[in-house]
Amino acid sequence: MKLLFIGDIVGSPGREMVFDYLPRLKRKYNPDVIIANGENAASGRGITKAIFDDLLRAGVDVITMGNHTWDHKEIYDFIDDTDYLIRPANFSEEAPGKGMTTISRNGVTLSIINLHGRTFLPPHEDPFKVADELIAQAKELSPLVFVDFHAEATSEKIAMGWHLDGRASVVVGTHTHVQTADDRILPGGTAYLTDAGMTGPYDEILGMKKEDVIYRFRTNLPVRFEVPKKGRGQLNGLYVELNDQTGKALQIERIAINEDRPFRG
Ligand code: FE2
Repeated sequence: MKLLFIGDIVGSPGREMVFDYLPRLKRKYNPDVIIANGENAASGRGITKAIFDDLLRAGVDVITMGNHTWDHKEIYDFIDDTDYLIRPANFSEEAPGKGMTTISRNGVTLSIINLHGRTFLPPHEDPFKVADELIAQAKELSPLVFVDFHAEATSEKIAMGWHLDGRASVVVGTHTHVQTADDRILPGGTAYLTDAGMTGPYDEILGMKKEDVIYRFRTNLPVRFEVPKKGRGQLNGLYVELNDQTGKALQIERIAINEDRPFRG
């Protein structure tokens, strides 16, 4: 099974990058399943039903979330009605939605799990313990398991990679918006990348207008960050190929598209 993962889609520039580049990425990689992190898809905070529908129409199969999951209250109205939008599995038991879903292609089933870190982030349930429980459930269906670990600390993400090595097919980090260069297949067969990077504005700060962010760092005064409407874009993500029988990774490749790195798909 071939998987394409698109890192944190930020606002309308991020969505435009997906609409522009996904057809070319599909031609290049011919993925069976496309997963994207969409927790910043609506103006940098949360997701709406219309945006969710647009991303699915563009070819994304499953959307994962993170700390901004509930920023658009609209999500409460549809998260329980779809199998294609998941939120971190280690949120409160009372949270709407679910943290794992499955998708099948040509007789091969993949489980997709979303988890939330708790270092420098709100104290959710233990993501390592929840990962153990969900992977045990997933393995009853299929050895193919994808994990999006939405976390701040590189150490916590690397710890999750090693914790799940040989049990998850893919562990990829999201949230920090800057792609790391440590893509590798761990000894047990898990494809690992600390952070996939973001999809959206390229000449700003993690997708937000740089002037506002610089002002906040200089003055410590409150300022509402905004996603700019214009400017150069970037798309970051990951391609992984898995063995359908064992679920182990055969190939891993980082995807980094921006104006400084022209893309020929
Ligand atoms: Fe985040």
